[in-house]
Amino acid sequence: MDPIRTDFLVIGGGIAGLLFAIKASRLGSVTVLTKAGSNEANTAYAQGGIASVWSVDDSFESHVNDTLRAGDGLCNRPAVEAIVREGPDAVRELISLGTRFTRIDAGGEDEYDLGREGGHSHRRVLHAQDLTGREIMRALGEAAAACSNLQILENHVAVDLLIERPPVSQPICWGAYALSKTTRKVHRVIARATLLATGGAGKVYLYTTNPDIASGDGVAMAYRAGIPIANMEFYQFHPTCLFHPAAKSFLISEALRGEGAILRLPDGTAFMARYHPDAELAPRDVVARAIDSEMKRLGLDCVYLDISHRPASYVRERFPNIYKRCLSYGYDLTERPIPVVPAAHYMCGGVMTDLEGRTTIGRLYAAGETAMTGLHGANRLASNSLLEAAVMARRSFAAARDELSKDSKRPPSFPEWDPGRAARTEERVLITHSWDEIRRLMWNYVGIVRSDRRLERALRRIQLLKEEIHSYYWDHLLDSDLIELRNLVIVAELVVRSALKRKESRGLHYTIDHPSRDDNHWRYDTVIRREDVQPLTGSPA
Ligand code: FAD
Ligand code: SIN
Repeated sequence: MDPIRTDFLVIGGGIAGLLFAIKASRLGSVTVLTKAGSNEANTAYAQGGIASVWSVDDSFESHVNDTLRAGDGLCNRPAVEAIVREGPDAVRELISLGTRFTRIDAGGEDEYDLGREGGHSHRRVLHAQDLTGREIMRALGEAAAACSNLQILENHVAVDLLIERPPVSQPICWGAYALSKTTRKVHRVIARATLLATGGAGKVYLYTTNPDIASGDGVAMAYRAGIPIANMEFYQFHPTCLFHPAAKSFLISEALRGEGAILRLPDGTAFMARYHPDAELAPRDVVARAIDSEMKRLGLDCVYLDISHRPASYVRERFPNIYKRCLSYGYDLTERPIPVVPAAHYMCGGVMTDLEGRTTIGRLYAAGETAMTGLHGANRLASNSLLEAAVMARRSFAAARDELSKDSKRPPSFPEWDPGRAARTEERVLITHSWDEIRRLMWNYVGIVRSDRRLERALRRIQLLKEEIHSYYWDHLLDSDLIELRNLVIVAELVVRSALKRKESRGLHYTIDHPSRDDNHWRYDTVIRREDVQPLTGSPA
């Protein structure tokens, strides 16, 4: 069917996309695109939980201050205030849609169990044991299935946005081109309002906690459409993933450290107190850098995380998923320390939006990990991501509703997808090799500790790859690997260019050439627009 017509197009079916879609379906028809199965989203993998002020001992001021501290001087305070203060309402909405967070008996009272994680000065993380994301996806998936005018098109990959560019006024988005992975046809999806909720880009690094869908498609589509992209140098590495060749960077939740787990060297020495007064509960950037530094200092493959001093029954009940997964690799975390290493985890930068999720293009909104609201600054506080995604999905929906109620413009006609001279891909090795090369060079040159020299070398190589991919892209029939590769190389370039711009160390960006934070010169967001980037030769993808 081409074109598909819908009132709201939602690109992405994680927490941000589904929450927006469920609300929008009360107003009009909604089409949600997910590029794989419904559960392949970062949301489904979330373990620790969602941070929100919940207990009477806690306060908004405290959550705001913890967020600002973790963000290392770069958070946008109004964003922090707004998102933290709306957190409890967003959590209540998730609960009303069916999410069952873990409850405990607290002195005869049945209450939500509040977890603790690094950088938080209070217990404020609602969770569903250690499978919070899976529970949120279950609840939102069921709620979405009950909405009569909401359709989810699985295995549909958005390729590019449909943009009208009137000569004098602001450009307007009218949906997107989307490839069906089943029929291999590209459709126009024409919508009155579009939400980008495509999640993160962990796949740009060789080792990541993210599932395969996380290739930064939303950032790349927005960048190609001319929207400013900000703070991409702040890629967060999670300190603790299971170190095992078959475990694919399986996350060991920060909630373990919240419940007393200790990081140790192979001889059993605890080392975090040497790096930060909060030791294991220091902000994530500090912990990841400390582990990296110990591994380099001693030539280690990994360090160890030890929760064996807590009662075995408690560990099994609080962390059933982590316990079982570790056991399947031969590690019983109730008995001895388990081997851990850092891996790429979360994109703090992204598509710049205002506090209503609006981008610089009319009728186009962005929410969740793909967006940059200013909440996280230079480093995200643990469990603030699900919070931001839920709050911003609600705010984006309200803004889209108001915008549509004010005008009744009609979309112009957009041409059918033109495959041009494209032929079927014969040499897949060109795609697989480029994927591998990008991920490896990002890991080796643009990781936890950076230098100008390594970043410059990475940029040269990425520019060449981008040109190769650009010419290959237009010569071959589209498939999802090719779409993702074209996006991934843009994300890599944005991370490297942003990192090269920032001549200081702050939050997640640490460079040996400028090792101190410099508030006099660098206390602002790193913003990159497509028109500022000079191609090496011809025109880049
Ligand atoms: P996602 O949930 O990633 O959803 C993205 C959606 O976009 C998917 O449906 C995907 O198919 C779709 N998509 C992408 N590109 C396209 C395209 N081109 N066309 C069509 N569809 C597309 N955060 C917390 O706050 N607390 C935690 O405890 C926590 N734990 C985590 C544990 C792990 C292992 C990971 C990986 C992340 C964790 N995070 C956590 C981060 C958090 O889960 C994510 O940031 C958040 O879920 C992102 O939600 P989202 O809706 O923005 O995107
Ligand atoms: C975790 O459970 O450690 C992940 C929390 C997060 O990414 O916020």
